Amino acid sequence: MLNIVHYPNPILRNVSEKVEVFDKDLQAFLSEMARAMYRYDGIGLAAPQVGVNKRIIVVDVGKGLLKLVNPVILEVSGEEEVMEEGCLSIPGVYVKVKRKIGFIRFKAQDGTGKERIWTGKGLLARVIQHEVDHLDGVLMIDRAERPFSEEAEKKIKELEENYE
Ligand code: NI
Repeated sequence: MLNIVHYPNPILRNVSEKVEVFDKDLQAFLSEMARAMYRYDGIGLAAPQVGVNKRIIVVDVGKGLLKLVNPVILEVSGEEEVMEEGCLSIPGVYVKVKRKIGFIRFKAQDGTGKERIWTGKGLLARVIQHEVDHLDGVLMIDRAERPFSEEAEKKIKELEENYE
């Protein structure tokens, strides 16, 4: 089972590299990531969160599993919404993040390198943005409305103090 990397581990702040090799190892890694996401009850997981700085994410917002390699957001538009987000790498912290969720269009490759364009909205649009942010070293706390709740501030401080 893959281990989840927690804030403030610097791995989460790196810009991840594009995947160039589409082989059995990549396909196995995608399955391992999906297992880890489900195990921790996540709806999205990015490779840096398991310690791998590669542009890979898995997402399942209840409409099936997406294994996305080299995802690129092509368009985000429409309605903006503020919603509390969580992150497996920042456990116990929930912060309000405003994102455009009216429409998203993104492209990604699958485990064999085949590219496809996807469209969606709502929670899918939110999660894709959250996960692609991870690939650029951006965390939800960077985008969240401030001030955070006292609870969130406390948990973040705990994570920072307990990090070794
Ligand atoms: Ni996250």
